Amino acid sequence: MNRPARATIDLEAIRHNVKVAKRAAPQSRVLAAVKADAYGHGLTRVLSAFEEVDALAVASVEEAVALRAVSDKDIVVLQGIRQPEHLALCTKHALQPVFHQSQQLDWLSRWSSQDSMLSVWLKVDSGMHRLGFDLDAVERAFVRLSDHAAVNRVACMTHMACADDRSDDYTLQQLKAFERVTADLSAPRSAANSACVLGWPQAHYDWVRPGIMLYGASPFIGDTAQDWGLQPAMRLTAPIVAIKHCRKGDAVGYGRSWVCPKPMTLGVVAIGYGDGYPRHANNQTPAWVKGHTTHLVGRVSMDMIAIDLTGYTDVSIDDEVVL
Ligand SMILES: Cc1ncc(COP(=O)(O)O)c(C=O)c1O
Repeated sequence: MNRPARATIDLEAIRHNVKVAKRAAPQSRVLAAVKADAYGHGLTRVLSAFEEVDALAVASVEEAVALRAVSDKDIVVLQGIRQPEHLALCTKHALQPVFHQSQQLDWLSRWSSQDSMLSVWLKVDSGMHRLGFDLDAVERAFVRLSDHAAVNRVACMTHMACADDRSDDYTLQQLKAFERVTADLSAPRSAANSACVLGWPQAHYDWVRPGIMLYGASPFIGDTAQDWGLQPAMRLTAPIVAIKHCRKGDAVGYGRSWVCPKPMTLGVVAIGYGDGYPRHANNQTPAWVKGHTTHLVGRVSMDMIAIDLTGYTDVSIDDEVVL
């Protein structure tokens, strides 16, 4: 698709952010979350920036099989198997499925494999109530996994609900629960998303699982990426296609939701929700052009937005706007 909007990806920024994660958790191995096409950055194109991580995590078996074609690293399937046939795919492609519900264990019990090649993860629900075994079911699930002839290693993981808020002690409650149910299992452990990597060292354990920080966004409420020494991996730009001079009282765009409070100069920029720009972005949403910080005006259209250029006489058609 030939659209004028551009997402430019900086591989060096991802490499830098991987180093930030490793420095923050020097005793742990790094399982980088690269699901959803590396958080929209284009997994095959950015893969070389993940050389220094120990393993890669995707959501589905389908993503994992595609990733195996281009990577020799360990690959963890965070949502695990959705059908019994996925087990054979996991052994064939050396994928590490996460077991998070009992039906998956039933499929495994009925599956006979000649090889004991399967490295698996057991997901503990320590309080997020999304994926994972309830605390009182963890030990039994661990035994069922480790007793299976095809399984050669079981590691345990959990996921934090509120780690982006360092004043919320729910994270400590979750860690306590995770430690209690895994204390007697001889298994590597993992709990740390990006927020835990940077802000909760007690959650590092054997493996950390950073995602969003690797792409240069702060995982914390109220903190910027810069505050944590992270570099943005994506720069989203689009050109100005029209400059309009509006009178006080003119309404701009769909729904006439923005009414000019004074005479204004507007730039119409060639990007919209058809390009993935959020349709609900409001009028405070910033945009940058020629060193000026400005903001959106009116509703986001399918392939256009308007920005305020009042007073910026140095801006012209085809100038690049950073969004
Ligand atoms: C199981 C699991 N681990 C790690 C991550 C990475 O989290 P974050 O992007 O907040 O670092 C995710 C992201 O959704 C996840 O689902």
